[in-house]
Amino acid sequence: MPGLRVAFTGGSGKVGRHVIKELLHYGHQVINLDLVDLASSSTDMPELKDVHTIKCDLTDSGQVFSSLNTHMKLGEPFSAEPPRPPDAVIHFAGINKPMVVSDGETFRINVMGTHNVVEAACKLGIKKIIIASSITVYGVAFGLGNLEYASFPVTEEADCNPTDPYALSKLCGERIARSYAAKFGVDIYCLRIGRVFEPDEYNSDMFWGYVNEPEKWFQHGWSYADARDLGQMCHRGLAKSDLGFQIFNAVNDTRTNSEGDTNEFLRRLYPHIPHSRKMDEYEAPISNSKIRLLLDFNEQHKWMAYYVARLTRPSVSAGRVE
Ligand SMILES: NC(=O)c1ccc[n+]([C@@H]2O[C@H](COP(=O)([O-])OP(=O)(O)OC[C@H]3O[C@@H](n4cnc5c(N)ncnc54)[C@H](O)[C@@H]3O)[C@@H](O)[C@H]2O)c1
Repeated sequence: MPGLRVAFTGGSGKVGRHVIKELLHYGHQVINLDLVDLASSSTDMPELKDVHTIKCDLTDSGQVFSSLNTHMKLGEPFSAEPPRPPDAVIHFAGINKPMVVSDGETFRINVMGTHNVVEAACKLGIKKIIIASSITVYGVAFGLGNLEYASFPVTEEADCNPTDPYALSKLCGERIARSYAAKFGVDIYCLRIGRVFEPDEYNSDMFWGYVNEPEKWFQHGWSYADARDLGQMCHRGLAKSDLGFQIFNAVNDTRTNSEGDTNEFLRRLYPHIPHSRKMDEYEAPISNSKIRLLLDFNEQHKWMAYYVARLTRPSVSAGRVE
């Protein structure tokens, strides 16, 4: 497919930087809308130095409308062509977990930000919107105590009633997307993203815990999202049109530990939770079947390729106490 003009929100954050890098690799032009400049927050990623950031508070509708009608780069002079909306918007900006700011602010920033981006994009005639949702909408990750999934594998059909303000804001974002997609007849794909790992995070204490203490990591559904593979998912979403409103679990194919077969592993931990089908040997319990089937996602970055087995967690192996 020819490269698209893409407005990306939240590109200066942990995940966005990697996704933008992948989008550039696939030939797209990207402009970043964020409170923070991308180039200065990503000096370790020289590929991003030419991506322009418009500093824009997405909770302000006027700023969003203005910034989505834009040149892709600063020009001196600008080309003769006047500014115009991009071909697509990918919305990742916001608060990425509870307790970063107050609950009400988490809700306001995420829900108003998503509403403003989706409203402006639709009213400016943009036909393709991808938004970052989260597997936390399933309610387990930031639930009170040890909540459980209702069945395995966890699909996009599962009932969602999260009890924390972050996941609730993500669920509201999905409903905003559904409403606008129905009204404007556009494609809005919501990615329910799993815990994202940057390339240098596979040897963190958290991943060591995933592999060696899997019973303690039910909250992420024994599933993860590689930041680069998430970039591919966004590219695939740009490439596939006319699906209308869609929700996709956005995780990698493989379970985050390799202890036995997935079906047996889950039955040992949760004998009372039903299985709706037999899962593959190492299949992630949060199912990515839909994104593989409808968007042709093809995983490139399995965790096993990067993880180094150790007897103790990395901070202990390195003599650090954390
Ligand atoms: N990190 C994960 O593991 C994970 C998992 C699931 C979903 N997500 C979702 O992916 C997205 C990116 O997450 P992240 O971890 O990169 O978060 P992050 O906090 O690192 O980055 C978020 C970016 O959004 C920007 N931002 C915040 N409020 C804004 C506003 N009002 N206007 C403009 N920009 C604003 C920030 O400046 C920042 O650059 C979020 O929507 C998050 O909910 C992340």
